[in-house]
Amino acid sequence: MKFNPNQPYNLLPDLPPSIELETKVVLKKCISATAALAELRGVGDLIPNQNLLIRSVGLQEARVSSEIENIVTTTDELYKALADSIDKVNPNTKEVLRYQEALDFGCTEISRKPLITTNLLCRIVSIVKQQDMDVRKLPGTKIVKNDKEVIYTPPEGPEIIRQKLSSLEQFIHSEKELDPLIKMALIHYQFEAIHPFTDGNGRTGRILNILFLIQQKLLKVPLLYLSKYLIEHKNDYLNGLKSVTESGAWEPWILFVLSAVEEMALRTRDKILAIRQLMQSTSDTIRERAPNAYSKELVELLFYQAYSKTRFLEEANIAKRQTAAAYLKSLEDIGLLTSVKIGRENYYLNNRLLELLKQ
Ligand SMILES: Nc1ncnc2c1ncn2[C@@H]1O[C@H](COP(=O)(O)OP(=O)(O)OP(=O)(O)O)[C@@H](O)[C@H]1O
Ligand SMILES: [Mg+2]
Repeated sequence: MKFNPNQPYNLLPDLPPSIELETKVVLKKCISATAALAELRGVGDLIPNQNLLIRSVGLQEARVSSEIENIVTTTDELYKALADSIDKVNPNTKEVLRYQEALDFGCTEISRKPLITTNLLCRIVSIVKQQDMDVRKLPGTKIVKNDKEVIYTPPEGPEIIRQKLSSLEQFIHSEKELDPLIKMALIHYQFEAIHPFTDGNGRTGRILNILFLIQQKLLKVPLLYLSKYLIEHKNDYLNGLKSVTESGAWEPWILFVLSAVEEMALRTRDKILAIRQLMQSTSDTIRERAPNAYSKELVELLFYQAYSKTRFLEEANIAKRQTAAAYLKSLEDIGLLTSVKIGRENYYLNNRLLELLKQ
């Protein structure tokens, strides 16, 4: 039976597809993608305070993943929001922070209990959307191109959707011998094809990828993100999903996902190395030119809060109010930070870090 984009695809087959998936090209690509991922894990370990990295890399992911949904904010806005009060920031920035919150929540859950369930996905999408979400009850959800052409209608009816999600859960946790990166490619397609929610499926699916990698122990902490690659290759991404449905084109889809993993792992590795280098040179500069202000804790703070203020130094027990203010001022004097006044408060920006993150 030919696939009809206007008909709910209730016949969406469960995973795995009954074809040979581990072809020669796929296996070859698997090897290089796996190696890149291992390198990323390796450099992650070089950074003393991993929370710092997870946050800066994670915020960029939240920003870019939300951008796919046309929720655009800037790196500066995001850091400012974290340093300031979330109530004061614009709606897009808020939404991006929700993605980050959903991701954090998922990671915490997975580390407590390594099970990816329908319930967990519902809770994640509820955080992304800031409202109680359940699987779709009503018909009418379609994937449309350029606001008119329907390219896909996902399965309809809550029972069918739940049943497909439950098969997906089983596949995720099955011991079947399949390379985990290939498995992730299959899972991402399947989740998007089920399209269980009225909205937020893309973002939830991208969070699911990360949770799966952590659950499989391919990542220790959430450091690998594909969203940037998906934006840069948006047409290939969307065509890839479409072609699996229309013609069972699994091989190109799997290769696409493997390329995304490989390239993003290497790019993130480079970024981490650059952050590490910048931390080192910042630390050296402070020791040399403002030795009174130097402490390891202060350097870490400047990389955790790209917008710093006196209160943060006080809270981190780095210095009391007046001394803290003097420290920040002296770091501005030697060109490491730039101060800006937001409202009535003085913030000190780590511009080099922000530049690096934006690249
Ligand atoms: N032909 C297709 N078949 C299955 N899934 C698709 C297809 N085309 C796009 N998708 C998926 O649908 C997602 C969009 O769905 P939805 O609007 O519910 O998610 P979102 O998180 O709000 O949006 P976005 O992914 O754009 O941020 C895309 O990101 C993609 O993953
Ligand atoms: Mg949407």
